[in-house]
Amino acid sequence: MILITGCAGKTGRNVLQALVEREEPVRALVYQPEQIDLVESIGAQDVVVGDMNSAEAMREAVQGIRAIYHIPPNVSPYEISIGQTMIAAAKEAGVQHFVYHSVLKPQSEAMPHHWRKLRVEELLLESRMLYTIMQPAVYMQNLLVHWKKILQEGIYAVPYPTATRLSFVDLRDVAQAAAIVLTGEGHEFAQYELVGTEGISQSEVASILGKELGRPVQAVSIPIDTWRRQAKESGLGEEQIETLTKMFAFYQQYDFIGNPRVLGWLLEYPPTTLNKFIRQVHKEMDSPHQVPV
Ligand SMILES: NC(=O)c1ccc[n+]([C@@H]2O[C@H](COP(=O)([O-])OP(=O)(O)OC[C@H]3O[C@@H](n4cnc5c(N)ncnc54)[C@H](OP(=O)(O)O)[C@@H]3O)[C@@H](O)[C@H]2O)c1
Repeated sequence: MILITGCAGKTGRNVLQALVEREEPVRALVYQPEQIDLVESIGAQDVVVGDMNSAEAMREAVQGIRAIYHIPPNVSPYEISIGQTMIAAAKEAGVQHFVYHSVLKPQSEAMPHHWRKLRVEELLLESRMLYTIMQPAVYMQNLLVHWKKILQEGIYAVPYPTATRLSFVDLRDVAQAAAIVLTGEGHEFAQYELVGTEGISQSEVASILGKELGRPVQAVSIPIDTWRRQAKESGLGEEQIETLTKMFAFYQQYDFIGNPRVLGWLLEYPPTTLNKFIRQVHKEMDSPHQVPV
């Protein structure tokens, strides 16, 4: 059985779906009892509710597990201690394969949450466990946060210059890659950059949106203080706002670009393009029976 941590989140649900499609038994670790129905409806065979900060709860969660797909909480100041807890529990229980959901370019200290993931990668390196490290680029699914404004106002607003170039990846490709690594052979000690596109400027993103949605869409750069205010109003914590502000400053100064070739090799098909992703989401949003990922 495979344990997925953070299973009720965006990443976890997609990885669970990909493993269920391969008929792999999965134990889902969720944070709240209210999330049990969600992961069961996707196909989790077993569900545990627990806090990744709790060594005792994690020791129980890993019992009888063959492999673990560890998805840490989003932008968490506790990422390193959680990593320590998960690795220690997995090692003690004899888990054969530890797959860590890290991030593209964790080696930048200017982005604290990336830097923390590098420290967890270091812990894995020193753990003597069989491990694989997954380093995804910016999810295409992040665009869904802007979807309403894009459709209603034709505005795609970002808190950095519209010339900023980012590499994106479809979370469904990331999930397929995770399933390949978890169920196939020969991925021990590898670290895979999971990148779907070359660097695309935000103006180009708007132009692709416009083309695929059949309406004009304009990229607009909003001041960081406006973004911070909106983020606070939407309930994001101070720590997360500070961390993401630093990430946006990095994007502005250096862009955030990876190379899609590793993902194409791993999947054995070309990663999803941004055009295709937008077309699919548009179609799914039009269908009353589908909820986009
Ligand atoms: N978004 C991107 O573009 C991107 C790209 C590369 C890598 N990543 C990384 O992917 C990871 C997952 O991101 P995501 O977007 O899937 O996050 P998410 O949707 O917020 O999912 C995280 C899940 O973890 C749960 N959780 C939070 N704290 C927990 C705790 N202490 N113990 C147990 N469960 C806990 C959350 O539950 P609640 O909802 O109840 O809090 C949620 O279900 C993050 O580490 C992020 O850095 C993201």
